Amino acid sequence: MAVRRARRKPHYTARTADRHVLYQLAVQAPETDAAFYDRWFRKYTGRPLRFLREDFCGTAVLACHHVKRHRDNRALGVDLHWPTLAWGRIHNVKPLLDAEQQTRIELRQANVLDVRTPKVDAVLALNFSYSVWKTRDALRAYLENAYASLRPGGLLFADAWGGPDVLQQKTDKTRHRGFVYEWEQRAYDPISHDIVCAIHFAFPDGTRLRDAFVYEWRLWTLAELRELFAEAGFVDVDVLWEATDQKTGGGNGVFYRTRRGGMDEAWIAIVVGRKPERRPRRTAR
Ligand SMILES: C[S@@+](CC[C@H](N)C(=O)[O-])C[C@H]1O[C@@H](n2cnc3c(N)ncnc32)[C@H](O)[C@@H]1O
Repeated sequence: MAVRRARRKPHYTARTADRHVLYQLAVQAPETDAAFYDRWFRKYTGRPLRFLREDFCGTAVLACHHVKRHRDNRALGVDLHWPTLAWGRIHNVKPLLDAEQQTRIELRQANVLDVRTPKVDAVLALNFSYSVWKTRDALRAYLENAYASLRPGGLLFADAWGGPDVLQQKTDKTRHRGFVYEWEQRAYDPISHDIVCAIHFAFPDGTRLRDAFVYEWRLWTLAELRELFAEAGFVDVDVLWEATDQKTGGGNGVFYRTRRGGMDEAWIAIVVGRKPERRPRRTAR
């Protein structure tokens, strides 16, 4: 007779915990996200998403799940930070992918501004990472480079966040198995829209990993993002808005295309832009 074992609660402490493990558990849902972007890509283009580039990929766990989904799927993950990519190779690429699947993923240490090849079907810029650029010119340069990296008909997806709640100085705490995830909104300047946020982890033994990740960003509005997508050449620039869970009042993970958002306290949305199939023709004068 099979004996059912209760799943043991992981025993994390500040000394033993790995910040990337905790980040992946608390912040990411890579399997769901890989399916989500494939589904939206199909909706826009009528074909499956085969070649994905994950910009600011960090540990590249989403890229790994994209590769796992289909034998023709390929992924390129790009990140500046070599140690994080190395962690991703050891903890995600090797355990999640077999030898053949590993030939379909490339992790490249580079500035995303310097990567234009190979051309891909979709570029993802997630967890607001493009917010490191704090001027319109700098963000437009990134969007233009993403545009140049796409095959004709390809899509760029960038997530965004906002609402009055994100302007509050506060720390939200979420309990997970064996640790508490803390999201601190540390500082916000209404003149520049500069915002500083940090992630901390707290453990049952009373220890904490403070400033496990710190982000110094500009809080971009959806209006600015849509304008900059268009200036970079994208067409059909849409916003996908997250529906509300009636019980909790928070987001429910279901997104829909809309021209008008709600007056939510806090919201997450995704901006999508399409590279036209053909270059727009110059009209003769
Ligand atoms: C917020 S993390 C995002 C990790 C992951 N994409 C996710 O969705 O959770 C931001 C990552 O962007 C990387 N990064 C920041 N600026 C970059 C740049 N110019 N080019 C490439 N990577 C960059 C950092 O090294 C870091 O790993």
